[in-house]
Amino acid sequence: KPILFSGIQPSGDLMLGNYIGSIKNWVKLQDDYQCLFSLVNMHAITVEQNPQDLIKRSLDFVALYLASGIDPQKSTVFIQSQVPEHAELAWILNCATYMGELNRMTQFKDKSQKHEHNINAGLFNYPVLMAADILLYQTELVPVGADQKQHLELTRDLAHRFNNRFEREIFKIPEPFIAPATSGGRIMSLQDPTSKMSKSDSNKNNFIALLDDPKTILKKCKKAVTDSGEVIEYDLDNKPGVSNLLTIYSVISGKTIEQVVQHFEGKMYGHLKVELGELIVEYLAPIQQRFYQIREDEAYLNAVLKTGAENARTQAQKTLRDVQHTIGFVLP
Ligand code: TYM
Repeated sequence: KPILFSGIQPSGDLMLGNYIGSIKNWVKLQDDYQCLFSLVNMHAITVEQNPQDLIKRSLDFVALYLASGIDPQKSTVFIQSQVPEHAELAWILNCATYMGELNRMTQFKDKSQKHEHNINAGLFNYPVLMAADILLYQTELVPVGADQKQHLELTRDLAHRFNNRFEREIFKIPEPFIAPATSGGRIMSLQDPTSKMSKSDSNKNNFIALLDDPKTILKKCKKAVTDSGEVIEYDLDNKPGVSNLLTIYSVISGKTIEQVVQHFEGKMYGHLKVELGELIVEYLAPIQQRFYQIREDEAYLNAVLKTGAENARTQAQKTLRDVQHTIGFVLP
């Protein structure tokens, strides 16, 4: 089977945008690919983290992967920092990446505006570590949200650069798997539908966390910003708020946008918000239930992660050794 890799940073609260943009597709693809799903905590420390919170959140996120339907019998689930090959390959790739390339990364520009007191070198190099994550495993497919497209392009450029320089396929060239906006590749903020939903948003009304309780979910949906006018229709330019709610409804219900619009014909924005809230509550209930079961059993979680890291390491070492040998490192 071809290899699939993806990851999520343990920052903020895992939320509906992450689920729709990535985890939902992981579950869908997990039978057709040999999958590695990583919890990328080395990426998370590019922003200051409280150590105790980071540990707790990391285990929460992994438990949510499993509760959402990732099966550790089929897929490798692991924590990035437990596989040191990621950092080792990242260094090598750093030496083949131009400052100019990293300067062009829009996420770096956004984040350095948000964290202007801590624009560290890790934040700048972040996409190179991401390239290492992917290239270490000879990955063919990377399911992510639309915001990761530019990072994937850099990853592909770096892979080509290496392969061309050494005239051999050292790295597989990975393909992104990104849903179009209408199928959830880019879920927008509930209060500001012109910017994306983000798990580290300081205004928690902007997103629905996977672990929000029913009351909170209903409240956040009711509060969601809609647009002027009163007809429920999909119109990204003039009705970004309503269109976003329709998209979420469509993805969660499995109906097309047209079917959803038809369902709400003659109804008002308020109906859409209430029904959407109820739909999300119902959808998340079994995931939350499984989460609390899994999260309680820390021995089980640790066992999954131990096996995961061992599997990942075995695969990662093959690529890393080959790269080290190829570039002229004396092997032990
Ligand atoms: P992160 O942790 O910000 O987000 C995790 C995943 O959720 C997707 N996503 C969204 N999808 C749709 N709508 C949204 N509003 C939305 N917000 C986030 C992201 O695109 C991502 O797929 N750099 C990555 C983590 C990473 C990675 C990797 C991913 C590190 N190494 C290797 C894939 C392969 C990130 O910060 O994702």
